[in-house]
Amino acid sequence: SEPKPWAGRFTEATDAFVEAFTASIDFDKRLAPYDIQGSIAHAAMLKRIGVLSEEECEIITQGLEHIRGEIERGEFSWSVKLEDVHMNIEARLTERIGEAGKKLHTGRSRNDQVATDVRLYLRHEIDQIVREILRLQAALLDLAEREADTIMPGFTHLQVAQPVTFGHHLLAWYEMLSRDYERLLDCRKRVNIMPLGAAALAGTTFPLDRFYTAELLGFDRPAANSLDAVSDRDFAVEFIACASLIMMHLSRFSEELILWTSAQFGFIDLPDAFCTGSSIMPQKKNPDVPELVRGKSGRVFGHLMSLLTLMKSQPLAYNKDNQEDKEPLFDTVDTLRNCLRAFADMMPHVQPNRDSMYKSAQKGYATATDLADYLVRKGVPFRDAHEIVGKAVRLGIETGRDLSRLSLTELQQLSATIGPDVFEILTLEGSVRARNHFGGTAPNQVRAAVKQARRRLEEV
Ligand code: ARG
Repeated sequence: SEPKPWAGRFTEATDAFVEAFTASIDFDKRLAPYDIQGSIAHAAMLKRIGVLSEEECEIITQGLEHIRGEIERGEFSWSVKLEDVHMNIEARLTERIGEAGKKLHTGRSRNDQVATDVRLYLRHEIDQIVREILRLQAALLDLAEREADTIMPGFTHLQVAQPVTFGHHLLAWYEMLSRDYERLLDCRKRVNIMPLGAAALAGTTFPLDRFYTAELLGFDRPAANSLDAVSDRDFAVEFIACASLIMMHLSRFSEELILWTSAQFGFIDLPDAFCTGSSIMPQKKNPDVPELVRGKSGRVFGHLMSLLTLMKSQPLAYNKDNQEDKEPLFDTVDTLRNCLRAFADMMPHVQPNRDSMYKSAQKGYATATDLADYLVRKGVPFRDAHEIVGKAVRLGIETGRDLSRLSLTELQQLSATIGPDVFEILTLEGSVRARNHFGGTAPNQVRAAVKQARRRLEEV
């Protein structure tokens, strides 16, 4: 069995259960590429300051590259006895290259090593996640442009409120994602700080050139305090908070898609490729993808709470508790990436049923506010106008007609100021067209907003 790198001061072997209990290799092996990247940079820096010879550095680097290949090909045998990814790789390196391998850990601790690995990993993942967000945003813009004239009911309290354009609704989703995108990029700034050189907690007696290592690894700078460097996990908490907001948004989108595909709304069809059937009810086509995304938001919110709780009472500096940061973080990354991918793949194939949306907007007196505004323009104070329109709505309900189906005489009995020009503003088209200002639902505005958003997307 592999001797443990720290076995020097021990007289008894580790209890077998404790060995398994304290090991993280089952999940932290995903950090292997970053562990290797960090070690190669550390070795190059050790060479630069004269701790490693040119030859030693060369052998270490080649050895690590070889191990990278073994891992990629699935030939590496991970050992629980060697606890974690760091010791597995280091032990294998020494097994392969001998003496030089034993020098790699000079001026380094697993504490600064693991914090560095996680940051390199997360930086890479943020860059992938951001690309998925942009892909979903681009899909939303295409759909919004196509549906700039499509009228649907807008809701408050899930009751028909005022007509809106479907394109406008999609652009609301787009805006939420824009903020998510900015938040992630901002979070990335705090991720991209290098712990290496902090060693176990107090720094090291070797004259490490931390700025050089940071540069090699693409970090903005080395962490300014060694105690903070090894124990800070707020970058991970912050990332999961960003992820939670994105999942919250995706969950809201999902909820709407689910409602809209139901026969009661009938606003959209989801592509067959993104739905599943029922094992008993032959007629069923279920919106599983949005339902799962809605459901998966819960686990990400849970991970946020779990990481906050993990950190909340830890004294400085490193504690083994920190090993528990990985599973919530990794699962957050996987969940978020998959959910964004599902949405970005699905949205271009969403089929709107323009007719059903239109018919639905015709029910529920969605143009009542337009009529009140009309009366105000004729000189009626808004509160009186509200009352008059309320009566018109009641007449409509009692006689089963929309406002536009009331006769001019009936309307004039409610207010003499009403003229034949009223019918134009009572149409759904008139209603959306009239909300023609920056941020409004008018088709013109939707098209302008799409154009502007495309310009912003092209800049990134
Ligand atoms: N596997 C550990 C972790 O994930 C690496 C650091 C261990 N350091 C230590 N002193 N036990 O946090």
